[in-house]
Formats: sequence, structure tokens, C-alpha cells
Amino acid sequence: MLDAIVDHKRIAAPAGFGVGKTHLAVRSAVWCTNVHPVGTALCITTATRFRQVQRQLWPHIRKVVPRAGLSGYCDTVQYKMPDAYGQDVVVTYGFSAPTNDEVAMQGIHMPHMPLIVDEAGGINP
Ligand SMILES: Nc1ncnc2c1ncn2[C@@H]1O[C@H](COP(=O)(O)OP(=O)(O)O)[C@@H](O)[C@H]1O
Ligand SMILES: [Mg+2]
Repeated sequence: MLDAIVDHKRIAAPAGFGVGKTHLAVRSAVWCTNVHPVGTALCITTATRFRQVQRQLWPHIRKVVPRAGLSGYCDTVQYKMPDAYGQDVVVTYGFSAPTNDEVAMQGIHMPHMPLIVDEAGGINP
């Protein structure tokens, strides 16, 4: 998965339970917002249900940021880092969109913007 992210715009990881899909997705999110200057990268995390964003993905993010000694801090579904002026900037956040509501995903722009879709099998194409 991590190797594929380097060369491909979109990757999918259909696999069994508990093999590390969510675990690795989180690491790619945190990597992206730490290798680009603050304010140039925004990672969006989503899943079929908000419960999955909050209780499956984000516990990993909240753990890996302090454990790796990375800049910034996390709250429930938001990772903030200080910019050059000391102002906190949201670099990663999580939400879920209502089924078939394409507009809910619109309007988010950033030069580097990875989108992580966990439990994607439950999301309408
Ligand atoms: N590379 C890894 N190193 C350490 N623990 C891992 C690793 N990959 C997965 N785990 C642990 O295994 C468990 C299942 O991983 P998870 O990412 O939730 O699986 P999946 O999303 O594929 O169902 C989690 O508790 C996770 O922290
Ligand atoms: Mg998972």
C-alpha cells in the first residue's frame, strides 16, 4: 500500500479483517502532512459511518502523532500543527458524508490533499 501511494493517484486495498489497512492508511495521512510545509497539505479521512472515522481511524492518528514525536496535536477527529507564525492550522480532519450526497465532499482544496476512505466497501461509488 505505502509503495503504491508513491506512484499512483488512487489505490484500493481490498483485503481481509485485521491485516493493517487502517493502520497503514493512518501512517500515510500523517506522513503527507509532515513532509509538506504547514498550510500546503490537508488530509481528509472518511468512512461509511462517522463512528468508523471517530472510533477506528482516529485512535491510531491520536496515538502515532505523539508517539513519533511529530509536530502538533490531535483532538477527536482533527490534527492541528502550528504554522510559521505559531497559529494552529488543521492539517488532517475526519468526517463522513451522507449516502449519495456528493456535495458533502466538495469545496476542499489544497495543493497536496490525500483522501483516505476507510471501510470504503460501504460507500456508494
Ligand atoms: N504494521 C503494524 N504494526 C503494528 N500493529 C499493526 C500493524 N498493522 C496493523 N496493526 C494492528 O493490528 C490491528 C488491526 O489492524 P487494522 O489496521 O485495524 O486492520 P484492518 O483495517 O485491515 O482491518 C490494529 O490493532 C493495528 O494497530
Ligand atoms: Mg480497518
